[in-house]
Amino acid sequence: MGPPTERRAAKGISIAAVGDLHCTRSAQGAFQGLFAQIASSADILLLCGDLTAYGLPEEARVLARELTVAAKMPIVSVLGNHEYESGRQDEVRQIFLDTGIRVLDGEACEINGIGFAGVKGFGGGFDRRALEPWGEPTMKQFVHEAVDEVLKLGSALARLRTAYRIAVLHYSPIRATVVGEPLEIFPFLGSSRLEEPLNRYTLAAVFHGHAHNGQPEGRTSGGVPVYNVAMSLLERHFPGKPPFRILELPSPPRSEPQPAPDAPRTRESIVVHEGR
Ligand SMILES: [Fe+2]
Ligand SMILES: [Fe+2]
Repeated sequence: MGPPTERRAAKGISIAAVGDLHCTRSAQGAFQGLFAQIASSADILLLCGDLTAYGLPEEARVLARELTVAAKMPIVSVLGNHEYESGRQDEVRQIFLDTGIRVLDGEACEINGIGFAGVKGFGGGFDRRALEPWGEPTMKQFVHEAVDEVLKLGSALARLRTAYRIAVLHYSPIRATVVGEPLEIFPFLGSSRLEEPLNRYTLAAVFHGHAHNGQPEGRTSGGVPVYNVAMSLLERHFPGKPPFRILELPSPPRSEPQPAPDAPRTRESIVVHEGR
């Protein structure tokens, strides 16, 4: 029997996702059980930001050590707003990169024929109530920050030529998965500007965190499934189950012709379930 990826290849590929671990300096041992469960049930792990509590290198090192139980598994991550709290996000990113994690910030990567595009994202609110770049320079700057993230996401998705594309975000691209949070903070939980590139390129799924009290599932206006995998949300919505979700994809054909960016792809064979 080969390593997990080879063993599952005949059946398809299992992708586990979780975010908002908020690892502290004293969290040693707190996540090993979770990562061991993930390693035994999935081929690839997605970490959707807020991996640390205050964005401190010491916290990142604790989490990196916790992840050694899943060391053989490819891990794709984005940073969350908590990684920026202490202004040491570059050091934190480097610690994760040194651990072998692919930390995406407007980049794309391909693993086992599946394409991943990742950005942190940003706030600004949703739909008709989204913040517009109007008035004070600070308000315009706020919107530009979100627009920059949208552009980075679009260019990362454009680089992927895989049969399946998956986006990894921290902030939410849709309103539906933040419902349950206080209405007053919706604008700080995500931006529907992020929806545009997700609808333009055909995606199998989008994962995000950040809205701890939101909803586990929603869809973009173009029908792309969106999963909020903030760890505390999963614990609340799926009691008794380990707090991660699994997306099961059929094995992508090795030499499938490139789908046009807007070609519809069937999603019937894609299954998502909570950890078990
Ligand atoms: Fe968080
Ligand atoms: Fe966050």
